[in-house]
Amino acid sequence: MLSASLTLDPAFRVAPVGRRLFGSFVEHMGRCVYSGIYDPGHPAADGRGFRGDVLELVRELGVGVVRYPGGNFVSGYRWEDGVGPDRPTRLDLAWRQVEPNTFGLGEFMAWTRAAGVEPMLAVNLGTRGIQEACDLLEYANHPGGSYWSDLRVRHGDAEPYGIKLWCLGNEVDGPWQIGHKSAAEYGRLAAETAKAMRALDPDVELVLCGSSGAGMPTFGAWEATVLEAAYDAVDHISLHAYYEEQGDLASLLASPAAMDRFIADVVATADHVRAKLGRSKRITLSFDEWNVWNMSRFAGRTQAPFEHAPELIEDTYTLADAVAVGGYLITLLRNADRVAIACQAQLVNVIAPIRTDPGGPAWRQTIFHPFALTARHARGEVLRVEPTGPVLNTAAHGEVPALDAVATHDPETGAVSLFAVNRHLTEPLTLHADVRALGEIRRTGAQIIAGPDPHAVNDRANPDRVLPRPLEVPPPEDGRLTLTLPPVSWGVVTLARPRVLSMDTVAR
Ligand code: AHR
Repeated sequence: MLSASLTLDPAFRVAPVGRRLFGSFVEHMGRCVYSGIYDPGHPAADGRGFRGDVLELVRELGVGVVRYPGGNFVSGYRWEDGVGPDRPTRLDLAWRQVEPNTFGLGEFMAWTRAAGVEPMLAVNLGTRGIQEACDLLEYANHPGGSYWSDLRVRHGDAEPYGIKLWCLGNEVDGPWQIGHKSAAEYGRLAAETAKAMRALDPDVELVLCGSSGAGMPTFGAWEATVLEAAYDAVDHISLHAYYEEQGDLASLLASPAAMDRFIADVVATADHVRAKLGRSKRITLSFDEWNVWNMSRFAGRTQAPFEHAPELIEDTYTLADAVAVGGYLITLLRNADRVAIACQAQLVNVIAPIRTDPGGPAWRQTIFHPFALTARHARGEVLRVEPTGPVLNTAAHGEVPALDAVATHDPETGAVSLFAVNRHLTEPLTLHADVRALGEIRRTGAQIIAGPDPHAVNDRANPDRVLPRPLEVPPPEDGRLTLTLPPVSWGVVTLARPRVLSMDTVAR
């Protein structure tokens, strides 16, 4: 039997757990918007066309922020088409779609309020530029008394939207991107767009486009160039990463280690630019697209006819994919001192935790569960746990620990949550946790995602085939907690402690 150990100590603080780490992404792509979140003819749709069953699942998922409207789509998008009474039908060149524009900014903002999530908007720096970005910001955030803000009021939204988070384009480094640019061209455009947007609204937080993947030939050099051009004008730099099982399950389960390395490389590059420019501000990371995506099965759309809401990259996820997703969430939490925002791509139907049938039911994919459990139980502050144990050798990512883990501690309630993954394909792993520093533990519990078939899926016929199950965790003995994680599993262990009273509470 494999065994590994770690230590839970509230003193090993990394950073507060921000709700923006549990972000998602809604792109005008495939059936994410149309027949996903928005389906006016559906029996569960409200008066605005929002599917109520999907909204309930989004709340259950625990999403904190949603990026919109793309993605590659935004690089050819005219935001004005999606506001007011006249909605022209356009051709979207990114995904070869017919876009009716019946869902646009006002609908998205109403949907975010219904879902209880923060909006994160991307501006088009592919086919458009500074002026259109400022017009959009004025429409969204200026209270009134100007052309664009008065137009918003006339369209029925008297109150400004107050959108804080703005992405300066999308994947501009990618040759596939409409309006693809060199790092020098993009860095300058982004810096000037940021300057103008800040002049209009000093409260915005701006995300500069980093690389669309760590495997891009320009990775590293791109970050250095665009950050040198725009360092003072932006707050965050983006990272995108998709992983898949290509006949090698061990490498998929090890892929969170590649995510860790990607984060470390971008942090190093950003801090190098900081030193070079002699600045004190640190740039934080917006990992605003991440997920499992079986990209090698996607033939692309360059030859496809233009269609409205085609079924695009509707990957059906396995139990092993859910374990990998649990692993990415562990990585993101561990790096919470530098990763300020993270968005799983996407929310509904398109490589998504939620699937819908047009006119029919909505269901939870396997990857829904680790996200929902992490969003629910990660509270307070992230704790380092320094696991030690056996190492696995993988083809794609070299040596990785069989056990990966991170914890959170809520100083308000005393609750501690330990998130852990066993990446071994066939062996259970016994985990020994030193919990002496936690003092009294009143209750232990655990939820685990595991099963005999790592390729089991949830689908329309069997939407609950893969579910988290309770795992018996005996109370700690002599400050040591012991539990066994099955092969290919991810879980959360919850430890209830007596409420910790702060001086503030005591004084009252
Ligand atoms: O999420 C799907 C696509 O992946 C997005 O449109 C793009 O930004 C990325 O390449």
